Amino acid sequence: MKNIIVLVSGGGTNLQALIDAEKRGEIKGGRITCVISSKPDAYALERAKNAGIKTRVLVRKDYADIAAYSKAMKEALTEEKADLVVYAGFMTILDEQVCKAFPYKMINVHPALIPSFCGKGFYGLHVHEAALAKGVKVSGATVHFVTEECDGGPIILQGTVAVDNDDTPETLQRRIMENVEWKLLPKAVSLFCEDRITVKDGRAYVD
Ligand code: GAR
Repeated sequence: MKNIIVLVSGGGTNLQALIDAEKRGEIKGGRITCVISSKPDAYALERAKNAGIKTRVLVRKDYADIAAYSKAMKEALTEEKADLVVYAGFMTILDEQVCKAFPYKMINVHPALIPSFCGKGFYGLHVHEAALAKGVKVSGATVHFVTEECDGGPIILQGTVAVDNDDTPETLQRRIMENVEWKLLPKAVSLFCEDRITVKDGRAYVD
């Protein structure tokens, strides 16, 4: 069984989707063994505790800079014997030492169709504000490997939703979460744990 460590910063609905999928037996070959939050008051921590999952908190501002924070995170992930690291609404960009320690062993869910509306500054509701400002007619979410390039790693799964004329960032976010994120993130995690994802020449392939 692979040890899955989930990184969170907020409400944790994607973490909940993973917990529920694991309970239903849909995460084949892995189990969530630890949840690490960048915020001490993240509701995601309650969700983990309610599910009996070990939690840790690593607060960004307790460290001098992103290198020191990344080092602490790398050490925590190593202590937890992480086979897979899942960014589930984790809002801190870790530096290259973490990516090097866990090459193609970290996956992120991003609430847009990468390469649109991604990279530094595009997180949470800001992503949906930008998509609506552009007037896109479809949006969605992407599950991808984490590499040194922010939101630039190989794409594993993507899914779409239609954008309505009267959408607000909140309604669009909710539709994308319900229809795409909460389904594709557990699916990608299971595919990883079943060793069904390979990366070749910068592209991810699911068999
Ligand atoms: C989700 O929509 C996730 O895709 C997004 O933040 C939300 C977290 O919600 N992540 C990013 O924007 C990362 N760039 P959650 O805490 O309820 O899972």
